[in-house]
Amino acid sequence: MIDLHNHILRYVVPIHRTEPDIEVAVRMAEVAAADGIRIIVSTPHFRPAGLGGDLRAVVEMLRAGVVELNRVLRQRGIDIEVVGGAEVQLWEGLPDLATDGLLPTLGEGRHVMVELPIASYAAYAEQVLFELQLKGYRPVIAHFERMAGAPVQGTRAEELVARGIKLQVNCESLAGRRGREVQHAAHELVRDGLAAALGSDAHDPGDRSPRLSVCRGAVNRAGGRGAFRRLTWDQPLAIIGRA
Ligand SMILES: [Fe+2]
Repeated sequence: MIDLHNHILRYVVPIHRTEPDIEVAVRMAEVAAADGIRIIVSTPHFRPAGLGGDLRAVVEMLRAGVVELNRVLRQRGIDIEVVGGAEVQLWEGLPDLATDGLLPTLGEGRHVMVELPIASYAAYAEQVLFELQLKGYRPVIAHFERMAGAPVQGTRAEELVARGIKLQVNCESLAGRRGREVQHAAHELVRDGLAAALGSDAHDPGDRSPRLSVCRGAVNRAGGRGAFRRLTWDQPLAIIGRA
């Protein structure tokens, strides 16, 4: 399996007061490997509006972090490959970052994972996504089902998908950990073939751990036989530019 959304590298660019370290990342990789995950796409929060300073340095730190973590995992015999990426917060400046080559993509591909604001509708969201597409990027909206409980106007899944935007769904949402409304929305996205890939959105080895197999049953019931494989291998493989 491929986990398209995972905060395994969150210690590299700290945004919270207390952050784990590489040993926590190693434990997360062990949990993922035991679950049957082979590729983790590292998607730490990337919030350029708040980062100020030298974005190029942050991008380099993330790149180096992936190399270093892979080296340590190989050394310890853990069969997980970590691929670079980020969960990029929506911001008016994203198209300019793309021009400057400072927009982290998922793997070696042209897909960019975008985190939309959940609490309020950003009027510029559609414009930013469209401009990214014009520049040749393919936006993947992070855990789109979580918008279900938000007062978001005008973001209909069908319309976004028809325009070439991809929607990622969290396993924990399907399992009901974000409430019934979000669970229902996640189920509908899988059922209607609108979900492009699953992610664990893992933050640690325990409570928010990198496991995907727990939602295999729910995904195949909602999307039909083969849905889980498509959402955890075939489609994410294409998203990271390997298919
Ligand atoms: Fe996330």
